[in-house]
Amino acid sequence: MQKTLIILKPDCVQRRLAGEIIARFEAKGLRIAALKLIQVDRALGEKHYAEHAGKPFFEGLIDFITGGPVVVGVLEGNEAISVVRSMLGATNGVAAAPGTIRGDFSISKQNNLVHGSDSPESATREIALWFKPGEVVDYTVAGAQWVF
Ligand code: PPS
Repeated sequence: MQKTLIILKPDCVQRRLAGEIIARFEAKGLRIAALKLIQVDRALGEKHYAEHAGKPFFEGLIDFITGGPVVVGVLEGNEAISVVRSMLGATNGVAAAPGTIRGDFSISKQNNLVHGSDSPESATREIALWFKPGEVVDYTVAGAQWVF
């Protein structure tokens, strides 16, 4: 079982698309290991996007991610990182294929609705940044049996 971080960005929450997009991930077979709605401050936004510091779009990106509440979560499942990235589609909604989340709902590179971790290293770093250990549910401890 692999874990990945998702952020339903301010445009997603403001457009009332959070439920529809979470439903897609669940229907695919991913399960929610953590989920919360929060207002991001600049320090957290800058840490999350640290690899883009200094790029021309960085300040605008921090303005955007702090511009309204986000829903941040951890999804778990077989190859969850690449599954989520495939479902999101290309970064730029203009180029994203129809059938993907961005392809169906976005025509912007910044307002592209959802962030998904891009590698196991990023997922580990991002989950630790956004969640305390006790906030991520361990289904094996819960002892339930699951189909996926
Ligand atoms: S790049 O060009 O390789 O640095 O971009 P990428 O790694 O694909 O995504 C960078 C994240 O920054 C957001 N963003 C932009 N990227 C590129 N250009 C512009 N103008 C831009 N504005 C915002 C983009 O949505 C990516 O966010 P995440 O949350 O990682 O999907």
